[in-house]
Amino acid sequence: MVEIAVADHGQAAALACRLFVDLFSRKTNAVIGLATGSSPMEIYRMLGELAASNLLPDLSGISAFALDEYVGLPAGHAESYRAVLTREWTARLGLREDQLHVPSGDDSQLESAAKAFETALAGSGGVDLQLLGIGSNGHIAFNEPGGPLSSRTHVTSLSEQTRLDNARFFGSLDEVPARSMTQGLQTILEAERILLLAFGEQKAQAIAGAFEGPITRDLPASVLQTHPNVTVLVDEAAASAFSRLPLNSAKSWPLQDA
Ligand code: F6R
Repeated sequence: MVEIAVADHGQAAALACRLFVDLFSRKTNAVIGLATGSSPMEIYRMLGELAASNLLPDLSGISAFALDEYVGLPAGHAESYRAVLTREWTARLGLREDQLHVPSGDDSQLESAAKAFETALAGSGGVDLQLLGIGSNGHIAFNEPGGPLSSRTHVTSLSEQTRLDNARFFGSLDEVPARSMTQGLQTILEAERILLLAFGEQKAQAIAGAFEGPITRDLPASVLQTHPNVTVLVDEAAASAFSRLPLNSAKSWPLQDA
């Protein structure tokens, strides 16, 4: 079931924080699925503030799995997703390094790394709460349009659109890697609960197509329609291409039963 609510960026982050705090309080060994990119960063910042004020439960038993990693960046590159999540998640929440799992982007051993990541994920018991962003072309994680809907963790080529979109994190387009290691769509669908965030007009067509159109490999996010528990938080601009209005307002969103 997909629930869609309109919330501005700050409201969405606050709502997401409540889901996290609720999960951390219920489950000391919670498993979190982390996205990178810009959409979830405010959530990580807010959770970091709660951690700094000692308002979070004991997090020593939780673990987190990243969605993806660029292939071929030098170890420690500031824009590698391991580096980003170490800064934005591990450090802000005061966690140990071994509580974060990121697929390896070392291009000398990609096949075994994909298998090792799937094994670690399965061994964790599975993701309780998966955060997702969406690409302007409808990708989730780095599952680009045209790939199989049944995929598991694998290496993929980034589309030109995705490389252009992500050039803002690098000095120039040339520096954006051409490939990534990404969780597959089937891997993502195994999460217990999914929270997808989309902000800005550039996401409007992808979001509307994903949830109002057919399930198709041309719009990978559309596969989320098959998941039993997806919440989509969109700001007004990202909601602007929906034909089916009104959507829920975040104020009436029933978080109590989260
Ligand atoms: C990042 C990821 C990507 C992003 C997507 C949106 O780990 O998997 O799918 O979520 O590209 O990126 P932003 O949030 O920067 O618009």
